[in-house]
Amino acid sequence: MDAILVTGGAGFVGLNLVEALLARGEHVVVFGREAQLPSPAPSLFARLPGRLEVVQGDVQDGAALRDLFARRRIGAVFPFAAITAGPEREAADPALVLDVNLKGVLATLAAARDAGTVRRVVLPSSAAVYGESAYAFPVLDEATTPPVPISLYGVTKYAVERAGLRLAGLWGLDAVAARIGATFGPWERDTGLRDTLSLHLALAEAAQRGEQVVLPPAPLPAYDWVYSRDLAEGLIALLDARDPPHRVVNLASGTDWAPAYGACLEALRRAFPGCRWRHAEPGERPSISWNESRPRGVMAIGRAADLGWRPRFAPAAASADYAAWLLAKREQALP
Ligand SMILES: NC(=O)c1ccc[n+]([C@@H]2O[C@H](COP(=O)([O-])OP(=O)(O)OC[C@H]3O[C@@H](n4cnc5c(N)ncnc54)[C@H](O)[C@@H]3O)[C@@H](O)[C@H]2O)c1
Repeated sequence: MDAILVTGGAGFVGLNLVEALLARGEHVVVFGREAQLPSPAPSLFARLPGRLEVVQGDVQDGAALRDLFARRRIGAVFPFAAITAGPEREAADPALVLDVNLKGVLATLAAARDAGTVRRVVLPSSAAVYGESAYAFPVLDEATTPPVPISLYGVTKYAVERAGLRLAGLWGLDAVAARIGATFGPWERDTGLRDTLSLHLALAEAAQRGEQVVLPPAPLPAYDWVYSRDLAEGLIALLDARDPPHRVVNLASGTDWAPAYGACLEALRRAFPGCRWRHAEPGERPSISWNESRPRGVMAIGRAADLGWRPRFAPAAASADYAAWLLAKREQALP
């Protein structure tokens, strides 16, 4: 069986994807900075039917990538290693952001081209490509919403889409770009390379500490989240799609979660009984810094639906599932 390579597979999105691939019996190769997956992934993943290899290396190292492909037959690639830089990091080291997020992906594609065995590449793009447009359009559509990325991270994600699809075409690789929405859920942690962790992680951490969460006054700005388990299924839909009609596909929930934050917090409160929540009174400071002050458009999910994927988890159900996962992890009782 051909292996599936996931660079950055020890990161947040990568672990969700690797877990879902192993669950369906795939041979998965993780390549990244980490020598091993974070606990409890090694013991948990060992119980799944697939086969896992973890190879430590840097996607800026072309020789290491060529060696990786030379030693095993790789049939599909998710070149997901990236630095999700916030303003301070992009100002301090813009070259590194470009080197890892763009050149690292292109180096991985070049190694895949040379191997000659790769049948599908799923490129890691992001909702960040919409940038300014996210505040100007109520629905962010792959075909009609102009990408106007703001951050260097968003610029690299757009470049990965365009350069990745172009070179894949020239090099005989079959690529699809996933515009991944803001994600939360199991396996999220600070890898030291992602400067903005999800709002849901902050809420869940406060809930686990039994704190009172004071939200900003309602109404909160519109925001589209995707649950990480849903995202993993969407990425696998892109892996499996035969002759996909679209080469750029939003993977998001297509839903504004702002009206559902209360239901999400109720789900956390049921799992972590000490937790309480309320909205701030006028003039009171929220207990949590909010991720966004302006409403954002939701992402269109018609193209993903054409490939047979729809998110399974509504907001409250996603939070309940996440809370159950956190509880099980805390009690070291993951199935
Ligand atoms: N988390 C989100 O909400 C989100 C949204 C849109 C797109 N994405 C994309 O998903 C992918 C994964 O992001 P994530 O959220 O899991 O981030 P993460 O920080 O949790 O994981 C990134 C992984 O890449 C690895 N990595 C970084 N630099 C590397 C290098 N030079 N060589 C080898 N490995 C390296 C890290 O060690 C880590 O394992 C990225 O391409 C990101 O742009 C994520």
